[in-house]
Amino acid sequence: MLRFSTAGESHGEALIALVQGLPAGLEVDQNFINRELWRRQQGYGRGGRMKIERDAAHILSGVHHGITIGSPISVQLENRDWKNWQESLPVGAGDPAKHKRVASPRPGHADLAGALKYNFSEARYVLERASARESAARVAIGAIAKLFLREFGVEVLSHVVTTGSVTVSEQISWERILESNARGEILLNCADPGAEQRMKEEVDKVLKTGDSLGGVFEVVAHNVPPGLGTYAQWDERLDALLAAAVMSLQAVKAVEIGAGVAAAFAAGSAVHDEIGYAGGGSFTAFSRTRNNAGGIEGGVSNGEEIRVRGYLKPISTLRRPLQSVDFSTREPVKAAYERSDVCVVPAAGVAAESMVALTLAKCALEKFGGDSMTETLRNYAGYCLQLKNY
Ligand SMILES: Cc1cc2nc3c(=O)[nH]c(=O)nc-3n(C[C@H](O)[C@H](O)[C@H](O)COP(=O)(O)O)c2cc1C
Repeated sequence: MLRFSTAGESHGEALIALVQGLPAGLEVDQNFINRELWRRQQGYGRGGRMKIERDAAHILSGVHHGITIGSPISVQLENRDWKNWQESLPVGAGDPAKHKRVASPRPGHADLAGALKYNFSEARYVLERASARESAARVAIGAIAKLFLREFGVEVLSHVVTTGSVTVSEQISWERILESNARGEILLNCADPGAEQRMKEEVDKVLKTGDSLGGVFEVVAHNVPPGLGTYAQWDERLDALLAAAVMSLQAVKAVEIGAGVAAAFAAGSAVHDEIGYAGGGSFTAFSRTRNNAGGIEGGVSNGEEIRVRGYLKPISTLRRPLQSVDFSTREPVKAAYERSDVCVVPAAGVAAESMVALTLAKCALEKFGGDSMTETLRNYAGYCLQLKNY
């Protein structure tokens, strides 16, 4: 079974990710992992921290001579900013005078809820772990999950659909998503250049006014075989697993599979994807004229592209802060401000790709099993043959 978790504070010494359950014999391309980490750090509207951090994955275990050995894989990402925080966030008792308190909880962050829950007198420790810096650790192991899925011909990428008030309403093809992601510079990762320019203007507006923006990204998983996930039990449904995985990312407040939201307002005849038998499909000769289901019916992948959207609330830290209360005096004050991004939709899309890849890898391993890549791929080839002969 594929399992993973992360550890580390935003300004601590390092982030750690642990993933276990991957078969032995998977080639691990460290340049690919680092490029994925770079992609998460890009985007127009990012704050100063992105200039300090240049994430690089340091693999500590589970990979030797360039391949997985079937043991737990642990990855460390150094926090370059740690040198500036060693005294204010020490592991030992340190000097309390150097502690950087977060004196007033910031609306939209975990600050107040976390301080109440853990009985902290202010929000420093809450911010440190609730921060989306954590998502970098997920991207490092998500990249390994992507390398695993590639062995089956599955690719996972994202693009931005909405930033602020600008939305791309047409469905973007896989080829355009590939093209958009091949660019050497990531602005807003929108496949429509005109819309991307308007999105940039939206970010410029909030940069001027001290406000922030949210938006919508779409993750697309290409060439996923039918049969991942199952309707047989509620917690094994692929749609439920993907929704939880994407919703677990910081600031994601809604998740949509395929045309999920619009479908709720439409008639069934306009929504459900009619079935044909045209031949030419990657896995079977069954065909569809459209993909409103986003590649999943009854909690099972149906062989079409999987499309999952994440809706992000606007960034919570505002340069012109909202009203809050001082933790010590309980007097009204402006919320604390700490260096921040104003728009992170492309980066959130990259983190969501990782969560989708890890979820699909988990379901693929449940379906095909195997302790070595040879065994897993042999099982997969047998299943593909079964589908062809269906
Ligand atoms: C990649 C990424 C980067 C983020 N960067 C920031 C940031 O610099 N400042 C900020 O206030 N929020 C940032 N956020 C959003 C916060 O992490 C999020 O609003 C906060 O955790 C509360 O959201 P939650 O209720 O979903 O956890 C970022 C989110 C993501 C996905």
